[in-house]
Amino acid sequence: MSDPDGEQRAPYDPMPHGPEEVGVGPWPGGHEAWPAGDQWDPALLEHGDRRNVVDRYRYWTMAAIVADLDTRRHAFHVAIENWQHDFNIGTIVRTANAFLAAEVHIVGNRRWNRRGAMVTDRYQHVRHHADVPALAAYLADHPAGPVTLLGIDNLPGAEPLEATALPRSACLLFGQEGPGLSEQARAVCDGTLSIAQFGSTRSINASAAAAIAMHTWVRQHADPTGAGGRG
Ligand SMILES: C[S@@+](CC[C@H](N)C(=O)[O-])C[C@H]1O[C@@H](n2cnc3c(N)ncnc32)[C@H](O)[C@@H]1O
Repeated sequence: MSDPDGEQRAPYDPMPHGPEEVGVGPWPGGHEAWPAGDQWDPALLEHGDRRNVVDRYRYWTMAAIVADLDTRRHAFHVAIENWQHDFNIGTIVRTANAFLAAEVHIVGNRRWNRRGAMVTDRYQHVRHHADVPALAAYLADHPAGPVTLLGIDNLPGAEPLEATALPRSACLLFGQEGPGLSEQARAVCDGTLSIAQFGSTRSINASAAAAIAMHTWVRQHADPTGAGGRG
């Protein structure tokens, strides 16, 4: 795909430098030309759709988008410990939406800062658990079958993520800035995986680590063409 400056763009990134208003205006042709179907949102057809959604979902109701996503969600889950109101949670939720995680789990405090999520949480199934044992119990008894709980942290004894075949049905659990994975999380996880680092810092940002780990699952299990259905 090319833009007015002649720059080559990826198909999922069609508007490199604008326009200033994202999305589309009212449905062309007025009411008479409106499409028929339950997925269409009359208010969006009338006034335009400026939401941060891919073109395939333009003018769709949020409920219709969620229902469509539900038909093809991937088998991985994401979990985040939330004991200190970590600001990374919002961006982790956004990445979980982009890679189409089955569910997102918030462990610990119920309240979390949604700012970085950019509304993506509304399209995800976000569940709260009081602590990691409660999360582990939920995953063990999951309606779709047991889900392996994997801690992601650079702890002593962690296996290298780069050399690990991830289970298809897996929950990737992240710690928070500062303490990292709690003692309770370390005790309950089925295994712990670390991302290789080569510089001087002890760790990378939790949201960056989450994106790397989710994409590792995607590379191993998902169909990047989107033609293969559920991963
Ligand atoms: C900033 S780290 C803090 C804890 C870290 N264990 C330390 O020694 O400083 C916060 C979270 O980011 C993730 N993380 C950061 N760097 C990582 C790495 N190299 N490998 C795996 N996870 C990492 C983990 O989920 C971790 O709990």
